[in-house]
Amino acid sequence: MAVVAPAHGAASEEEALILDVVRQIVADKVAPRAAEIDASGEFPWDVQKVFAENGLLGVPFPAEYGGVGGSFLTYVKVVEEVAKACAASSLIVAVQELGTLPIMIAGNHEQKQRYLPKLASGEYTAAYALTEAGSGSDAAGSMRCRAERKGDKWILNGTKIWITQGSIADVIAVFAVSDPSKGPGGISAFIVEKNFPGFKVGKVEKKMGIRGSPTVELIFDECEVPAENLLGEEGTGFKTAMKVLDKSRPGIAAQALGIAQGALDFATRYAQERIAFGKPIGQQQGIGFMLADMKVEVESARLLLYEAARKCDENAADVTLWAALCKLKAGDVAMKVTTDAVQILGGFGYSTEYPVERMMRDAKITQIYEGTQQIQRLVISRALVGKWKPPSTNGAG
Ligand code: CAA
Repeated sequence: MAVVAPAHGAASEEEALILDVVRQIVADKVAPRAAEIDASGEFPWDVQKVFAENGLLGVPFPAEYGGVGGSFLTYVKVVEEVAKACAASSLIVAVQELGTLPIMIAGNHEQKQRYLPKLASGEYTAAYALTEAGSGSDAAGSMRCRAERKGDKWILNGTKIWITQGSIADVIAVFAVSDPSKGPGGISAFIVEKNFPGFKVGKVEKKMGIRGSPTVELIFDECEVPAENLLGEEGTGFKTAMKVLDKSRPGIAAQALGIAQGALDFATRYAQERIAFGKPIGQQQGIGFMLADMKVEVESARLLLYEAARKCDENAADVTLWAALCKLKAGDVAMKVTTDAVQILGGFGYSTEYPVERMMRDAKITQIYEGTQQIQRLVISRALVGKWKPPSTNGAG
């Protein structure tokens, strides 16, 4: 297997090379393990290692800091390819990006030098800690995790939940309230290392799907963070968190698209082979039309995703809108297509002997994390009509 050579930009030749490597790895190392990863619920370190060895964890990271210097478009295609076979494994790529983006977006040169090369190579794993028990969709308004400056340290207190890869991460981007009087403008972002005093991993969730990807509670108990690990200016943390989601939601859309494509491929093959009433069920109009509808949905999601990824590459002004559009569409497509794939396989689809029930369970989370489908609609509608401000604060009444 070829090692992905660092390169600036993402010429199509480089993208083709990267995707060839990914397809080979998926066929040899990921697809044969997917059912077992789901059944055991253990993080597949062997898969992480092979991704790292082949440069796949640093595709969109800048080459000057050890990344591949590839495009976001290439990155989402990598996630998509892996998710066709194993959604949990695709998160290894997507969460490395999610957890690293705060440093890429808000980090200073020294922070980038210190962390990005190790994250790009996969020596370090990353996580992103925004969500709390009372603060999911209302990420800014309900945040309780506190950060207080004491001398040359920030002291973090509070608990984060639903943190993907939190238990295996070396480096975690953590968002906490540094000034409660300032609303979203009082939230700051920090780089926390797993060895910092006062950091510990709490409860590990048992989940419907993506079982090979650990989802955990993180506890900060007088956690000591060196002052130089503040990301960006104090009070800019919420904006950093949102800018990160603009570039990471397409990664989840890619995961959703990959799951849907994997389910469509499997159901199509099954429909060509399974005989009922004297002919393959794909030739029965009821099933053939289902497959046609699934294909339309998958291709629609793909077009939205690739356009959103191009917007990320261009740092387009409407990237927030496009990230929401592609995540909303792809998540819903993944749920519908995997449910229909189970239906096409009938009883076999409901059995763990076949992969489509796993794909259906894995699809559900793509409608929930990195902003629920309802939050995506909120973001989209605000892009159309703006955010309502009560008359007393907008000077209109
Ligand atoms: N880029 C830059 N700035 C942004 C921004 C963006 N995309 N979105 C908002 N902001 C700014 C606003 O301009 C505003 O700044 P000003 O005060 O200077 O005007 C500030 O941030 C506050 O924004 P809003 O007024 O829009 O905040 P809000 O509280 O009304 O709502 C929200 C924001 C869209 C609902 C947001 O809270 C949100 O996206 N919620 C969902 C959170 C989420 O997606 N969580 C996922 C966790 S990660 C995860 O799931 C990972 C995993 O497991 C794999």
